[in-house]
Amino acid sequence: MRRRRSRLPVVDAAAAVPHLAKTGGAIVNVSSTLARKPAAGFAGFADYAASKAALEQLTRCWALELAAKGVRVNAVAAGPVETAFLRERMGLSEEAAAAVEAGERAAIPLGRRGEPDDVAAWIVALAAPSAAWVTGQVLGVDGGFSLVRWSRSPRPGHVVRPRPRRTVAEGRIDLMKIVVIGGSGLIGSKVVSRLRAAAHEVVAASPSTGVNALTGEGLSEALAGAQVVVDLTNSPSFEPQAVLDFFRTSGRNLAAAERAAGVGHHVALSIVGTERTPDNGYFRAKVAQEETIKGTGVPYTIVRATQFMEFLGAIADASLSDGVVRLPTGQFQPIAAEDVAAFVAEAALAAPRNGTFDVAGPERASFDAFVGRYLAATGDRRPVVADPAARYFGWTVEELSLVPLGEARLGRIGFDEWFQSRPRG
Ligand SMILES: NC(=O)c1ccc[n+]([C@@H]2O[C@H](COP(=O)([O-])OP(=O)(O)OC[C@H]3O[C@@H](n4cnc5c(N)ncnc54)[C@H](OP(=O)(O)O)[C@@H]3O)[C@@H](O)[C@H]2O)c1
Repeated sequence: MRRRRSRLPVVDAAAAVPHLAKTGGAIVNVSSTLARKPAAGFAGFADYAASKAALEQLTRCWALELAAKGVRVNAVAAGPVETAFLRERMGLSEEAAAAVEAGERAAIPLGRRGEPDDVAAWIVALAAPSAAWVTGQVLGVDGGFSLVRWSRSPRPGHVVRPRPRRTVAEGRIDLMKIVVIGGSGLIGSKVVSRLRAAAHEVVAASPSTGVNALTGEGLSEALAGAQVVVDLTNSPSFEPQAVLDFFRTSGRNLAAAERAAGVGHHVALSIVGTERTPDNGYFRAKVAQEETIKGTGVPYTIVRATQFMEFLGAIADASLSDGVVRLPTGQFQPIAAEDVAAFVAEAALAAPRNGTFDVAGPERASFDAFVGRYLAATGDRRPVVADPAARYFGWTVEELSLVPLGEARLGRIGFDEWFQSRPRG
């Protein structure tokens, strides 16, 4: 296998060199950060890494051999890129691939996996005439991945099993069984990936996996042996009475199942400022959810987040009237879902606070300015009008209704970075 991988570029180059010598062309090999970063845990990994290391040395040797013919040879060593490689080429299950991706995102200094364009741009640059005096070089295009240590990744199909609890006092990680209710949702799926990447046993529970917090179905089986439950559910209906019933009933069902299973920590996600907008039926339901949690006797932590950046488009659409996006002028400080997931995962691994804490995005601006920035970035030409009387999904927003008033922890991902790294299509 290794021979075949290193041989293909040789065959390609041999065929191309006569033409490149005539045209003054260049060869750009595509290597990988993994050529120089040892890791284990995947079948075939050693062959892959060794063949990429060979390709980098071929790049340098060919650069010397072909310089006399005017042919330049360089390579790009790409870091993890958003492609189907883990699933289709390495054959990882969805679960295993997601865990690897989450671990990579957490390790990459620039905070995201690359897009194919990030790498393609440098391949084109090395082939271009402007690089006429560059040869024999391997350029790392990897968000800084090559600079950091990277822990061993989970094996394909590896199932994390309950392990004996080891205490932090022993100087080791405390591995736990953690049940994420709503584990298939926007925040839930990211929290599941983060906790699995940290090697905890994580159950992603939701109606689609037979666990229903509203009816109680499947709860006792899912919670058996769990130390922590993270509630990231959302109501399928936002009609005020339905959402109130959803959060009250599911909160009570979860508490009963947690008490029966001896769960020691309940973590939930609420919203900054819920108590400050009493005409908002959804916010009233979140207040009821928080009150239910506080009254159950199960130790808890409530993370209260500002609006997710992922909903900027939906906010613009909901604020459209007569072709104009009409928005309130109050302050707005949205946070990326990835940052929310990081705070929730951190809370799940910490001791219960029996209290709440606020998290928000790193940038604050008026509502209209933020949504206008999003629309401009997407090339959406719908005019944005700032109107102090405009409503947010039909609700009044005062100047400070939706932003933290006191101390808050701020996410790392600003709007520009979020916009660049958001999934497209
Ligand atoms: N939107 C915001 O800006 C914002 C800000 C701060 C906090 N929050 C809070 O963040 C939380 C998560 O929001 P999200 O956007 O990540 O939610 P989401 O993507 O809509 O996901 C909702 C999850 O709840 C599950 N679910 C629905 N009914 C259930 C039931 N009866 N029993 C168990 N699970 C059930 C769904 O499972 P299926 O996939 O199987 O249907 C899904 O996994 C919500 O509580 C929300 O209030 C939102």
